[in-house]
Amino acid sequence: MPSNLRIRQMEVIDIKAIMDIEARSFTLPYSAGIWERESRNSLSRTIVGIDNRTKGAPELQGYLNFWLILDEAEIHRIAVKEEYRRSGVAGRLLQEMFKVLRDTGIVSIHLEVRQSNHGAIKLYEKFGFMIKGRRKGYYQETGEDALILEADVPRITQAI
Ligand SMILES: CC(C)(COP(=O)(O)OP(=O)(O)OC[C@H]1O[C@@H](n2cnc3c(N)ncnc32)[C@H](O)[C@@H]1OP(=O)(O)O)[C@@H](O)C(=O)NCCC(=O)NCCS
Repeated sequence: MPSNLRIRQMEVIDIKAIMDIEARSFTLPYSAGIWERESRNSLSRTIVGIDNRTKGAPELQGYLNFWLILDEAEIHRIAVKEEYRRSGVAGRLLQEMFKVLRDTGIVSIHLEVRQSNHGAIKLYEKFGFMIKGRRKGYYQETGEDALILEADVPRITQAI
């Protein structure tokens, strides 16, 4: 786990760094307007991982956006800057998210992921998500199916 990583809520000044990672991570990146709306939406939470040890300004290495809807949550976005992948950044963000879910009484969380995104599927499975279904042709630009993954929050947060 990256010991120098600090997790905090997204601030508006983070949006540019988030959009740079978005542009390199997704075929349909969120716009600045979407991120500004997310920052004002009371259902939405975005947490960021900041490396305090980087020389110069602290560097935003990754982020996770999720929504809280009654007693359920949905992950909408997670990405890590390419050069920091496989160093535990996404894992730290997911752990922090699970603490928020536990503390707000959320019982389950789900997400959609491209069936070809094996790295992300492995990440989610490592953190207790299980495949619950499939949405045929969910991604309109490619016609690719989405897998629906779900996690039982009380079961996962027992260990946190
Ligand atoms: C998916 C993503 C967020 C993972 O971030 P990360 O910080 O590299 O993940 P972590 O280092 O915390 O990985 C934790 C575990 O997840 C699994 N994992 C993560 N990326 C993996 C990959 N590319 N291949 C296989 N397993 C992977 C591994 O089990 C890993 O543990 P290990 O390194 O000890 O083997 C990152 O690859 C990314 O930003 N991808 C582009 C955006 C994206 O696809 N987001 C998901 C949309 S649903």
